Amino acid sequence: MSDATKSQITLRGVTRVYRTNSHQVQAVAGVDLTMHQGEFVCLAGPSGSGKSTLLHLIGTLDQPSSGTIHFGGRDISGLSRSASALFRRTAVGFVFQTFNLIPVLTAFENVEYVLLLQGIGAAERNKRVTMMLDAVGLAELAQRRITDLSGGQQQRVAVARALIGNPSLVLADEPTGNLDSATGESIIALLRRLNEERGTTVLYSSHDPRIIAWADRLILLQDGKIFEDHRQTKVE
Ligand SMILES: Nc1ncnc2c1ncn2[C@@H]1O[C@H](COP(=O)(O)OP(=O)(O)OP(=O)(O)O)[C@@H](O)[C@H]1O
Ligand SMILES: [Mg+2]
Repeated sequence: MSDATKSQITLRGVTRVYRTNSHQVQAVAGVDLTMHQGEFVCLAGPSGSGKSTLLHLIGTLDQPSSGTIHFGGRDISGLSRSASALFRRTAVGFVFQTFNLIPVLTAFENVEYVLLLQGIGAAERNKRVTMMLDAVGLAELAQRRITDLSGGQQQRVAVARALIGNPSLVLADEPTGNLDSATGESIIALLRRLNEERGTTVLYSSHDPRIIAWADRLILLQDGKIFEDHRQTKVE
């Protein structure tokens, strides 16, 4: 198999230009990138270097101004709204710094919601959500409302929600950004464990050297371009 057919994600010449009234910004300025199933990759770089924009583009939350993005051999850079929504629902799990959870719902209901959207029946939902909350160490807190959980517990719910649909790719934008360092490390360790157990590809951004150190591969962005892309030795 050639590298192109084996790869899960391939970006070629990807740019994203934001135009405002007075000026334009090249948030992503020509990125070529290949990732394989099961990789655990960190995207780092200064504030404004394009990390969030790149994660949004790969997750089809946004579309490139030019260039192509392939996922599993399929071009996902110009999908319609409904096609991109379906792609996100079936292939991608998102974890954001601000959690994006529904505050009035319980931990259980926030995770279950993903399966409801997939049309999965109640018995199966119950089984899977219970197992997933257990896997992230939240079995006891399943019936708590989001507003009654700590930041770290909320982020665990967000990780459970990202993984419940068995996505082949998890995109995490500063998943430990709002957490104290011990809690942050427990979140990255959790993502790492799920990556190893399930072979889920994880691409996350971070500013924190301790969190960056967990990745097998580090991609450094600067001014919207890949400045460095290298393997790292594992944290044991
Ligand atoms: N919606 C937008 N409209 C205009 N410019 C934007 C928009 N979103 C991002 N930008 C600009 O694009 C560039 C890249 O932003 P991006 O959010 O991708 O950076 P980042 O690496 O995630 O930064 P941070 O570490 O601060 O989160 C920045 O110059 C930013 O100001
Ligand atoms: Mg960002």
